[in-house]
Amino acid sequence: MKKIILKKPGGLQNLTLVDADDCTPGFGEVCVNWKASSLNYHDLLVALGAIPVVEDQIPMSDGAGEIIAVGEGVSQWQKGDKVMSLFFPNWLNGSPTPQNTAAVTGDTIFGTATQRQCVAATALTKMPAGYSFEQAATLPCAALTAWRGLVSEGGLKAGDTVLVEGTGGMSIFGLQIAKAAGAYVYATSSSDEKLEKLKALGADHVVNYKTDENWGATIAKHSGGGVDHVLDAGGDATMKQSIAAAKMGGNISLIGVLGGFSTEIVLPIVFGKHLRLTGIAVGSGQQQMDMIAAIDASGLQPVIDKSFSLENLAEAFAYQQSGAHFGKITVVYD
Ligand SMILES: NC(=O)c1ccc[n+]([C@@H]2O[C@H](COP(=O)([O-])OP(=O)(O)OC[C@H]3O[C@@H](n4cnc5c(N)ncnc54)[C@H](OP(=O)(O)O)[C@@H]3O)[C@@H](O)[C@H]2O)c1
Repeated sequence: MKKIILKKPGGLQNLTLVDADDCTPGFGEVCVNWKASSLNYHDLLVALGAIPVVEDQIPMSDGAGEIIAVGEGVSQWQKGDKVMSLFFPNWLNGSPTPQNTAAVTGDTIFGTATQRQCVAATALTKMPAGYSFEQAATLPCAALTAWRGLVSEGGLKAGDTVLVEGTGGMSIFGLQIAKAAGAYVYATSSSDEKLEKLKALGADHVVNYKTDENWGATIAKHSGGGVDHVLDAGGDATMKQSIAAAKMGGNISLIGVLGGFSTEIVLPIVFGKHLRLTGIAVGSGQQQMDMIAAIDASGLQPVIDKSFSLENLAEAFAYQQSGAHFGKITVVYD
């Protein structure tokens, strides 16, 4: 079997496809035949070495595949079951803690860019009904983050107003989840062509954040005083506008770092507007299962832009860096 390893200090040229030994699941483990993964900005940061690299790291946090062997003590899975990875394999339910969020798939522990892997039986959930492996592999990081920001933490309800920023995987899932819940959705992009695609996907009002520098105020005005929920994707590039776009008492999920890891916030504006700023790092296994139930009920279909093979993972990351994509980029294994 084959796997991708990342050599220190990282960089796309240091991603290599190598032969690997098969594993036998130990007590409480299963062996998964991973069939697909998908790219997240976090995976790109790992691949580039922007997050310190563990030597011979196996990258990628997202995985979908089939169980091919079951270890002793495992009762919840059988051979042939179709499963998805967890971003935090030890955060199964309840609140995040330093302990249950220490292991991060494809970052602090080995990821899913491998054809077969033995993992804890608890570190998996089922896939949505009728989903292909490729579709399921788009969900564990991007979709769960948007779900948690809007639903688990944000309490999204029909009639709410939502702002999603840019057209990457997380934001497109935010748009789809918000529309499925009956929300009015504002969406932004740097590309007029992508704005048309956003409208086709159900966005109610779109703004080009490159041609309208004050897009936050534009959205606040259009919505009659600001939106209920913002999924902030850009950090330093977007936070000021996200705060301007939010309504009095609105909820801003701090999610993205596309424009940098730190930003300046004018505190009187935040408390003067009674805003709730919530840091979101993906979600728990229970939240993933809640999201899958909602996908089963709503029929939400992920938007997949382009697919690559495992051996072309570096090429997939280069495509992500180009910013040409709309929605998810996937990797499908042989
Ligand atoms: N905290 C978490 O748990 C969590 C989980 C998932 C994602 N994230 C974060 O969310 C962000 C998006 O992640 P992703 O995986 O969806 O990324 P992605 O698929 O690579 O999305 C990139 C897209 O974001 C938009 N973008 C780029 N620079 C921007 C800027 N300065 N301002 C506004 N939009 C910009 C562009 O859209 P247009 O081409 O339309 O302009 C670009 O195509 C990343 O910062 C990532 O780290 C965080």
